[in-house]
Amino acid sequence: MKTIVVGGTNSKELAKSVARLIKAKYSELEKSNFPDGEMRLKYNEDLTDKNVVIINGMMPNPDEMLLESVFAIHAAKQLGAGKITFVAPYLAYMRQDKEFHSGECVSAKVMAKMLDCADYVIAIDPHLHRIHRLQDIFHTKAKSITADRALADYIRKNHPKSIIIGPDIESSQWAKTIADSIGHESMILLKKRYSSTKVRTIVHGDPAKFKGRDVVIVDDIISTGHTMIEPIKQLKKFGAKKITCIGVHGVFVKNSLQNLRKLGAVVVSTDTIPNPVSKISVAKLIADAL
Ligand code: R5P
Repeated sequence: MKTIVVGGTNSKELAKSVARLIKAKYSELEKSNFPDGEMRLKYNEDLTDKNVVIINGMMPNPDEMLLESVFAIHAAKQLGAGKITFVAPYLAYMRQDKEFHSGECVSAKVMAKMLDCADYVIAIDPHLHRIHRLQDIFHTKAKSITADRALADYIRKNHPKSIIIGPDIESSQWAKTIADSIGHESMILLKKRYSSTKVRTIVHGDPAKFKGRDVVIVDDIISTGHTMIEPIKQLKKFGAKKITCIGVHGVFVKNSLQNLRKLGAVVVSTDTIPNPVSKISVAKLIADAL
């Protein structure tokens, strides 16, 4: 079956790279709006019996991107596609994975129901904290892949003597795994979150070990940046020479990127969400997973 790679609004460049890597045809999904604001999508490709890979990261504009993705999957079906794989470089709504306050929608489950219309869903480092596997919320075949390898390669090349920090327990699955894979020292900090913008971090162990060091803080998501800001302040006090924050997903709400830079940190992310610092590409990881 011939493969066609389709890039949604947020992942056109990434989809083109994936198409090049798997030697498949890339096709644009035409998008416009009707006068009343409703979305109009149009394929300009014969999808009959094709293996259609739709790539669309759901940040920024998660609500619109979720709907665009659902429409794109259904439209491909209507047009006779043989198999439809949906790749979410950033899978939105995964952080709303429980009823935190009584009466709240558990949006992660609803999002999964909406995307169940694809034959196969692949997501990069989805926020699997309380939900442990995508199969727990998806009925269709679903797989999560990790950007660990891409991050590890970047750190090995650019920060060969660094100590790798995970800013909270959950980040251990990236920070420690990456550090171990390239033989770097690592440390996982303790974080207490009081609100979306108030975080307290405890750096345990001997602070002297940071003096003069190249420190790389690794997490899955950099959103408001507060999870990074607290450790940066403390590591600076402890004499770290250089501090780099690496997030798989650079959400960077409001001025978070500037705020991190103001503290003197270098900030880098992957291209699951296009942004000014998305220097690490996940195209090869997606290509290998297809
Ligand atoms: C939390 O569970 C995540 O792994 C990240 O630590 C968190 O989403 C980062 O958010 P923020 O940048 O807003 O502190």
